[in-house]
Amino acid sequence: MKILSIESSCDETSAAVVEDGRKVLSNIISSQIDIHTKFGGVVPEVASRKHIENISVVVKKALEESKCTFEDIDAIAVTYGPGLVGALLVGLQYAKGLAYSLNKPLIAVNHTEGHISANYIEHKELEPPFITLVVSGGNTFIAYVKDYGEYEILGQTRDDAAGEAFDKVARAIGLGYPGGPKVDKVSKEGNEDFIKFPKANFHDDKVLDFSFSGVKSAVLNYINNSKMKGETYKVEDIAASFQKSVVEVLVDNGIKACKNKKNYTIAVAGGVGCNSKLREVLKEKGEKSGIKVLFPSPVLCTDNAAMIGAAAYYQYMKIGATPLEVNATPNLKLGEIRY
Ligand code: KG4
Repeated sequence: MKILSIESSCDETSAAVVEDGRKVLSNIISSQIDIHTKFGGVVPEVASRKHIENISVVVKKALEESKCTFEDIDAIAVTYGPGLVGALLVGLQYAKGLAYSLNKPLIAVNHTEGHISANYIEHKELEPPFITLVVSGGNTFIAYVKDYGEYEILGQTRDDAAGEAFDKVARAIGLGYPGGPKVDKVSKEGNEDFIKFPKANFHDDKVLDFSFSGVKSAVLNYINNSKMKGETYKVEDIAASFQKSVVEVLVDNGIKACKNKKNYTIAVAGGVGCNSKLREVLKEKGEKSGIKVLFPSPVLCTDNAAMIGAAAYYQYMKIGATPLEVNATPNLKLGEIRY
């Protein structure tokens, strides 16, 4: 089954052709990062307008690269939430128009489920059940993937998402947007033991929640105190110390989840999955505990349409097509169907 999938939930316009949920025939991503960098973050209205300009071009390229025509496509998939409402609407309306005019099924997909499904593309042998650690700009949680489309949340952030903390700290130390990749890069030149930033601890191995607002405030306080005292610091050291604190919590909770559930495969998903320290430490510590640690390649960690095509395939096999009345759902939860 060949699915043409579309993703436009934030600042990437993307289209892909994916065969049977696992084989990527094309995955075109048009990033708006350069435009939003000027504003220090994503401007929703600008994002929507850029999606409108880009979407036809991106879909055309995805078809060309996959050597498919619309006739070869069996279904149209699209992200319908969570995300920015205006941005989601562009992809969703475009996909509905295609599905209606071509008389092909529409499959409306949860963006977060897409991130998790990137692992099905990268690791052909991966089948549920497994543990997933989802770390993106809007989400941070650990879930037990019982079956395709069936999730049990084991722990989640009580405040900021991990990516959000990376972005806010990057801005505070003058690295700008997009924060995560910049913190990752400069940390390589820094001393991660320069300062011990706090790690949220709920003093119970069964509680796998996260909290990143404390470490973020600690970084801001450190910077302000240093300025008031006229002391200087190396941005690289602050970045590396902050990154260490965040990565340790993600890794510790991920490993605890595997042990609690007695399931020894963990698949990471979302943009922070690109982080080199997280990749290194989770692999190292996980392997010591007999855990198989899986990451999608970086291009499949950040927003892309191939992951939506993978999720769409398994959703279609289970529950079939989505009615054309489906609407953009900015606060859609994982495992929830809202149409
Ligand atoms: O998954 P994603 O592309 O978008 C959402 O669906 O949220 O994640 C974007 C987030 C941003 O906060 C970005 O700073 C972070 O992922 N990110 C990183 C890295 N690359 C992207 N964070 C840490 N290290 C990285 N290398």
